[in-house]
Amino acid sequence: VLAIWHQLTKAEIPELAKCSVLMRDRSRVEDTIYAMQRAGAGRLQVISDFDMTLTRFAHNGKRVPTTHNILDHRLLIDEDCSKKIRELLNTYYPIEIDAGWTAEDKLPLMVEWWTQVHELLIQQRIRKDLLAQAVKESSAMLREGYKVFFDRLTEQQVPLLIFSAGVGDVLEEVIRQNNVFHPNVHIISNYMDFDQTGVLRAFQGQLIHTFNKREGALSHASGLRVLQGRPNVLLLGDSLGDLTMADGVSEHQNILTIGFLNDQMDERKELYVKSFDVVLVKDETMEVPNAILKYIT
Ligand code: TMP
Ligand code: MG
Repeated sequence: VLAIWHQLTKAEIPELAKCSVLMRDRSRVEDTIYAMQRAGAGRLQVISDFDMTLTRFAHNGKRVPTTHNILDHRLLIDEDCSKKIRELLNTYYPIEIDAGWTAEDKLPLMVEWWTQVHELLIQQRIRKDLLAQAVKESSAMLREGYKVFFDRLTEQQVPLLIFSAGVGDVLEEVIRQNNVFHPNVHIISNYMDFDQTGVLRAFQGQLIHTFNKREGALSHASGLRVLQGRPNVLLLGDSLGDLTMADGVSEHQNILTIGFLNDQMDERKELYVKSFDVVLVKDETMEVPNAILKYIT
């Protein structure tokens, strides 16, 4: 009798059976989704990373730019700066995703990367009024199915916290231009600080990089009123550092973590399956998160 009861209390979602979906413990995933469904949309919050999680990793064989890389536009920065930023990317990105290093080892190097890039950007005296055009002319792209994702969360009045180590001003412009910057969207990111003439002079607040999201979660996310009383969390990310984005949720009940494994698949598969509840391998769509949300809400 117990076995039958158990069968009946599991969520059944056909999208989870696709071969690109890996799970350490399928049964626990189904139980968690079922528990979230029972609690309902009123008890749910979604916390998502931005670059390479809500945006695509690649499209037609070409890498899709991150918010930092969208700034690599001749309107905003000169050729020399562009070259330096690319060199930094080539040096530090392989370290960011290297499965052989711990987050602790990577941390000081990420600070180095972000600090140098932000300093270069500040030297360029970027103009606020040109950001929208740079985004428009970039190849930035959200994942397939993004509209269903954002629109459903809005309809169901579920808050979406976008927690990004990218550039907040650029991130906002990307979602605005895709018509999904809805009132239930909240953003924690690195925001630019402009002088009275609209020229970049600094970045605001504490720097957020891939491996210090826990601190941001504790200092910022935990204080957001709209997230209070929502103990169930759907978390989306593409980096192991993203797993700490829900650390500020007090009295959490059910947390389901979904990880996009975009790059270095063979090297990182084991680690990702160990760390995320659901791993999506080389999947450029929101199909699985959307199917889970449709079931829960
Ligand atoms: P995320 O937290 O929204 O994913 O943003 C962080 C990503 O941005 C991270 O994967 C590294 C990437 N990045 C660049 O692509 N270029 C840069 O210059 C920097 C500093 C970060
Ligand atoms: Mg990311």
